[in-house]
Amino acid sequence: MRKRVFSGIQPTGNGHLHIGNLVGALRNWVAMQDDYECIYCVVDLHAMTVPYDPDTFRQARINTAKSLLAVGIDPARSLLYYQSQVPQHAELSWILSTITSIGQLERMTQYKEKQDKAGQNLGLLAYPVLMAADILLHKVHYVPVGDDQTQHLELTRDLVERFNSRFGEEFPLPERITPEIGARVMSLQDPTSKMSKSDPNPASYILLVDEPDVIRRKVRSAVTDSERYVAYDWEKKPGISNLLELMAFFTGRSIDDLVETYHDSGYAAFKDAVAEAIVEGLTPIRQTFKALDDDEVARVLQKGALDARQRAEQEMISVRKKVGLSAS
Ligand code: AMP
Ligand code: TRP
Repeated sequence: MRKRVFSGIQPTGNGHLHIGNLVGALRNWVAMQDDYECIYCVVDLHAMTVPYDPDTFRQARINTAKSLLAVGIDPARSLLYYQSQVPQHAELSWILSTITSIGQLERMTQYKEKQDKAGQNLGLLAYPVLMAADILLHKVHYVPVGDDQTQHLELTRDLVERFNSRFGEEFPLPERITPEIGARVMSLQDPTSKMSKSDPNPASYILLVDEPDVIRRKVRSAVTDSERYVAYDWEKKPGISNLLELMAFFTGRSIDDLVETYHDSGYAAFKDAVAEAIVEGLTPIRQTFKALDDDEVARVLQKGALDARQRAEQEMISVRKKVGLSAS
């Protein structure tokens, strides 16, 4: 039996994804399809925990789904669907919420960061419980995510232990899979904070669908430091280190090798090379994205949801039995 993998991504804003998502998470999503049984989800219910516009949201869901297909998620090999189309996620989330401590939820960094913007709605506080339900619903072993999700995975593991000891062995302990290089891609405008779609300055991130000239402009304006040499040193040169990691990802070359090549080339030449590597890597993704048809994407995801619902229902029968929600 192949081990199972689950991961989810939120359709936030206009639903376009950035290279932080690709490098920190999606590349593993794609690679794991070769060796694991993979389940990938556009977690639209999660995205509703911050203020949003329903019409924009509708298109954002499609854009995120398209982005996943464009980076290489293959619906013939992996299950791909919208979270909202599989109601068992919400059902399991409710069950898990009854064994979750509010204090632990209130200590979540993401909650503390987002509550100022989003207001303290219950969904935002309960967000990590729904995430745990996503993972446990499919009884998966591995969860490929960026390192900003560590705390949420810890909660999931706590809930597994609590559930299993209270109701009997049901869920395996899931493990986080995070790349060594690029687990945290930093903002191009402030290399001490992570690249984020919610940053008001679009020059701080590169979208998978950004046109080549836009990419070149953003990389050229990336904040670095006042020295002249290229070196890999997160303490002293976070901007350059970030660009080095990106270039390593997009060229497949090692950081050492890149440092050797560009150490004395000057920042302008180095940035040009980084930009070209990113342009080259993103061009096939952008082209595939543009060629995909909305209706076709909707059909593919509906088919995924149909399969996912059947599997989720099988799992829930056993969960309901354990917690006393069954006739026998
Ligand atoms: P989000 O866009 O926050 O829903 O994140 C989707 C996935 O991308 C998650 O697995 C995150 O851990 C990952 N991710 C988001 N931002 C970054 C970043 N700046 N660097 C690395 N991974 C990221
Ligand atoms: N919280 C994750 C993020 O912000 C998204 C997510 C929701 C997720 N459910 C998940 C990731 C389940 C992995 C597994 O990126």
